[in-house]
Amino acid sequence: MEKTLFDNTRIGNITLNNRFVRSATWEGMCDDDGKVTQKLVAYYRGLVMGGTGLITSGYSYVRADGKQLPGKMGICHDSHLPGLQHLTEAVHQEGGVIFCQLVHAGGQTSSKVIGCQPLAPSATDFAGYQEPPKEMSPADIRAIVAAFAGAAARARHAGFDGVQLHGAHGYLINQFLSPLCNQRRDAYGGTLEKRMMFLEEVFAAVRAAVGSDYPVTIKLTAADHLPGGLQPQDGVAIAKRLEELGIDAIEVSSGSSASGVKSPVRQKIDGPEKEAYNAELSRMIKQAVTVPVIVVGGLRSCGVMQKLLWEGDADLFALSRPLIREPGLPDIWRRDDGYTATCISCNGCFGPGLKGEGIHCIVDRVAAENAAPQI
Ligand SMILES: Cc1cc2nc3c(=O)[nH]c(=O)nc-3n(C[C@H](O)[C@H](O)[C@H](O)COP(=O)(O)O)c2cc1C
Repeated sequence: MEKTLFDNTRIGNITLNNRFVRSATWEGMCDDDGKVTQKLVAYYRGLVMGGTGLITSGYSYVRADGKQLPGKMGICHDSHLPGLQHLTEAVHQEGGVIFCQLVHAGGQTSSKVIGCQPLAPSATDFAGYQEPPKEMSPADIRAIVAAFAGAAARARHAGFDGVQLHGAHGYLINQFLSPLCNQRRDAYGGTLEKRMMFLEEVFAAVRAAVGSDYPVTIKLTAADHLPGGLQPQDGVAIAKRLEELGIDAIEVSSGSSASGVKSPVRQKIDGPEKEAYNAELSRMIKQAVTVPVIVVGGLRSCGVMQKLLWEGDADLFALSRPLIREPGLPDIWRRDDGYTATCISCNGCFGPGLKGEGIHCIVDRVAAENAAPQI
């Protein structure tokens, strides 16, 4: 029988109702200590009620110096547990499935946010950094690997159904993988094999913390889209190695804040030909591994996703901005597979999050303001 977007599907031992994933999306709705708020819980209920098969949480910092944006979720301390438990219970009550995205920002934050000099694989002046970072010592590496493991254990304890390592978009794992950020001459830098060492240690520590029966996935920048950066064949090699190590699924993204028009959050997705901008990378990875491959980036219509599914380019489809505007999109698509998401990919949703209001779509408000009569 032909595959459809509404098939039950599996990641590790978890069954999902359909192939739609909410890609990790920082909501800016936690308090200053990274604790979950009622507003965030209500937001997640809305996503489950809208029919999304798997929700990936907004990125959650595994150590205080790994925080970046305001209102970000923390999972670095046991004091975060009650709120996280409340969040997973709400999702489960509505019949949803939720994974926690674990991140350390590395050099992609600022001393203003974290109160000390950011750490990074090397003290390079990478374009994605706001200020010069400090090169991580072997002890720093061991401590952050342990922080990922501690956060993963907390995620399982809090009731998350799985975890996703943030290996994308210029954050710490991506910094170690990318030759642009990683210029180390020790066991963690040089060849791709060595640049993968940090990720391998994080994965092994996380796996040991959560056990073999718990889904551990990754969101991977499979290419940096920068001269001298991570290339597509590197992304494929990383995916193959992760499969050998026991990863349960790979979400394929690309780029970082330094990648210009090829950033992870591309604008002007105004036609089917602009959709699915990571499809080529997803296809390459899908051909190289057997674990489920999730594609993200500019997915706006069932037609495009169905084609990718039928052609074997991806197994699951992750969305971020369209679900900010239309949390009920999967249910709309269930009723009408000819519907196109109305998100215009303007990235205006970041603004309210940065102002402390929590993310939301601003397009109608802007349109209404523009349409208001000038008095
Ligand atoms: C407001 C906002 C917050 C985001 N936060 C995260 C995040 O926490 N973790 C992550 O991996 N990607 C994050 N992203 C990137 C998205 O998950 C996704 O990769 C990107 O937006 C492309 O998908 P889309 O075209 O469906 O929006 C964020 C994007 C937006 C717009």
